[in-house]
Amino acid sequence: MKKPILTALILLLVIVGTVVLVNASGVLLSPHQGNYYENYKGFSEMIVGDWSSRGKQFTTWQNRYVRKVTGLAVVGILVLFALHMVAVGRKKLPEGGAEIPWYSLFNRFIHWLSALSVSLLALTGLVMTFGKYLGGGVFVRTLRYIHGVVGIFTVVPVGIMLIMWAKDSIFRGYDIVWLSKFGGYLSKSHEPLPAGKFNAGQKIWFWLSTIVSLVMFYTGYLMFYFSASVNGLRTAALVHNILAVLLLVALLGHLYMVLYIYSGSLRSMLRGTKTEKTVQFLYSEFYKKIGS
Ligand code: HEM
Repeated sequence: MKKPILTALILLLVIVGTVVLVNASGVLLSPHQGNYYENYKGFSEMIVGDWSSRGKQFTTWQNRYVRKVTGLAVVGILVLFALHMVAVGRKKLPEGGAEIPWYSLFNRFIHWLSALSVSLLALTGLVMTFGKYLGGGVFVRTLRYIHGVVGIFTVVPVGIMLIMWAKDSIFRGYDIVWLSKFGGYLSKSHEPLPAGKFNAGQKIWFWLSTIVSLVMFYTGYLMFYFSASVNGLRTAALVHNILAVLLLVALLGHLYMVLYIYSGSLRSMLRGTKTEKTVQFLYSEFYKKIGS
């Protein structure tokens, strides 16, 4: 997509988002008439109340599996990282040469806004999932409220991120080579693999994080505003919970890659540049393009 069209699209989204949020701010901050905590109690009773049909399945899933699956997934991925640290470890990247502009100030601002809000959603979501063990009550219900409001606002940075990096995240033929070698993450040797501005792993993370976040936004919105039938709300809750586990595990994977495996990554998301040698090695197809 051409830069002026992209800029216009992003500006349009920012303006529409701001207008919608300003107009809706009253409703946003008080999702339903009356006392929020009373309403929340009513919501919980309604959603598990009908024991004759899906109410039972829903409650069984919620009580029996959600906490276990979430807990196992988090512990499982942390164990995998520990094994990887021992067996393979960090990748030392070639550094040096000119500084190549990589992430614009706007890119970085939107990324950090998404990072902050999605991390806050993950933390408050985890507290809600394990709230039973944390004393429950007003503390957990207050976090649920914060989770709902932050969730609604998060659609803006994530929506913009989807537009601003979509073009660089389209899969290309050479991504198959990268994928067939698992990006080199499973071996100690460090051979260059073909990649554009993003490698195939980054592209997968991009599509997964943005699309899943938007589905979570929609299902979360349905629950926060009671905007569906009882069975609709149950379905929304199930979809929301399952995708939450997927997103949480993928987010931990993203953190492991950028904070541990490739130490120069963080610098590029803070300063906006990568060194020429790194680009030549990690993003060879992009390097060929800017060189020609
Ligand atoms: C506090 C948490 C986070 C940290 C510390 C972090 C850090 C980073 C860093 C350092 C990069 C640059 C990678 C490179 O070019 O080498 C990056 C890229 C990126 N981040 Fe994050 N990030 C965080 C959370 C998130 C979240 C929540 C999302 C999505 C909702 C996200 C989406 C992306 C995407 C799509 C990219 C570009 C592709 C990639 O490099 O994987 N990040 N992040």
